[in-house]
Amino acid sequence: MPRIAYVNGRYVPHREAMVHVEDRGYQFADGVYEVCEISRGFIVDMTRHLDRLDRSLRELQIAWPMSRKALHIAMSEVIHRNLVRDGLVYLQVTRGVAPRDHAFPAPGVRPSIVITAKRLDTVAGAKRAATGLDVITVPENRWERVDIKTVGLLPNVLARQKAKSAGAHDAWFVDPDGTVKEGASSNVWIVTKDNVLVTRQAETGILRGITRTTVFDVARKLELKIEERNFSLDEAKAAKEVFMTSATTVVMPVVSIDGHSVANGHPGATTLLLREAFFDVAERSPA
Ligand code: PDD
Repeated sequence: MPRIAYVNGRYVPHREAMVHVEDRGYQFADGVYEVCEISRGFIVDMTRHLDRLDRSLRELQIAWPMSRKALHIAMSEVIHRNLVRDGLVYLQVTRGVAPRDHAFPAPGVRPSIVITAKRLDTVAGAKRAATGLDVITVPENRWERVDIKTVGLLPNVLARQKAKSAGAHDAWFVDPDGTVKEGASSNVWIVTKDNVLVTRQAETGILRGITRTTVFDVARKLELKIEERNFSLDEAKAAKEVFMTSATTVVMPVVSIDGHSVANGHPGATTLLLREAFFDVAERSPA
């Protein structure tokens, strides 16, 4: 089956899906993105993802490439044309194509938009959740505005590669004082001995994950207590449970940190409960 991408108003075969060499996304990483999960043919938490896209665009003074309604239609079309029932839909929006100059181009340059979709193997995801992830830690080396979901992901790329080279699944960014920030592409959580869910506050230093926000709703439904505060690497290593959240992995247990087993080295019960209850709570928009 040929894969189809949406590029600036056209549905094109994946191998012909290209942006101009002077696209500012390519030249400067001057753009933002979103990733939504597709579950059983529905787009998960689309309202929250498009609200965050709106915020990222506004923070960088990039115009919307099309109306929100048209964007939903284009996303659905890409999902349908690629026959994706369970998977991911990606949107990248950049400041557009203009002669290379660091400052913003003249008004009237249209933002570029690319939409792609791919299938996810839900069985493989479930298997991974049953065993959990090994993570390593890396020093925080990103800029301050990680609250904006930009396509400038080089530190995240290097962190993930370091994890892969070390035989681990993922990497966490940690501040010099030992405070845990977030994963290379996820938010991180711990469950304390008293069964309290702890995750860093999202005002600074991390991306406000959509899965993170929806897990707050899930936890409220399950009557679990949440604390939004900093936690240290030592606290994470000593926690009852550790997990990560993202659109690509939903709620994913972490079973070791820098080679140190979390609890008994198996996914925790609360983590698995949150994973199971997630889709009963998350918003589902028809694709
Ligand atoms: N990443 N923090 C970072 C740095 C991320 O890149 C992501 C998501 C998250 C979790 O956000 P959400 O729950 O909205 O997916 C936190 C996406 C999935 C990616 O880059 O593939």
